[in-house]
Amino acid sequence: METNKIIALSEDDTMSIAAKLAKEYPNHLVLLKGELGAGKTVFARGFAKGLGIESNVSSPSYTLMNEYRKGHKSMFHLDLYRLNCLEEVVDIGLFDILDSKQPCLIEWAERVYELSKLPHLSVEIKRQSVSDNDEQRIITWHWEDSKE
Ligand SMILES: Nc1ncnc2c1ncn2[C@@H]1O[C@H](COP(=O)(O)OP(=O)(O)OP(=O)(O)O)[C@@H](O)[C@H]1O
Ligand SMILES: [Mg+2]
Repeated sequence: METNKIIALSEDDTMSIAAKLAKEYPNHLVLLKGELGAGKTVFARGFAKGLGIESNVSSPSYTLMNEYRKGHKSMFHLDLYRLNCLEEVVDIGLFDILDSKQPCLIEWAERVYELSKLPHLSVEIKRQSVSDNDEQRIITWHWEDSKE
């Protein structure tokens, strides 16, 4: 398994790497890992930019899912932090969306074990302090094939 790694010194750096990955994985499932405030939503914002989506991507915490349209295509962005049960993602049509091979980014996907078994781009963002009031992010990513 090939793991890629980059250091993002700023929010803009994180958005740039996300935009680059959007060009490489434009119709894929992306699972975003990292603690609260790591930069998963910032990454999703950069990914949307890379897909040419102009609307401002914000946290879908209270709605579970946001859809951003670009022509006849959509990017889906989910945050499962407040998910109560699997039925909630079934009800919003997540598995149909995944079957339709459209870009879909998910924060806190760990809440739904089934997702980790699907082929996906795994992205992890870690905060690292560089001085008393400065932080950077270590972003690692790799492709994971489906698991039985
Ligand atoms: N290098 C960086 N990359 C991304 N965000 C950064 C960076 N440096 C600082 N930040 C700040 O960290 C915060 C990241 O917030 P964001 O909402 O993206 O986190 P999150 O991982 O989605 O958290 P949550 O789990 O609560 O949804 C923002 O306020 C952003 O400005
Ligand atoms: Mg978020």
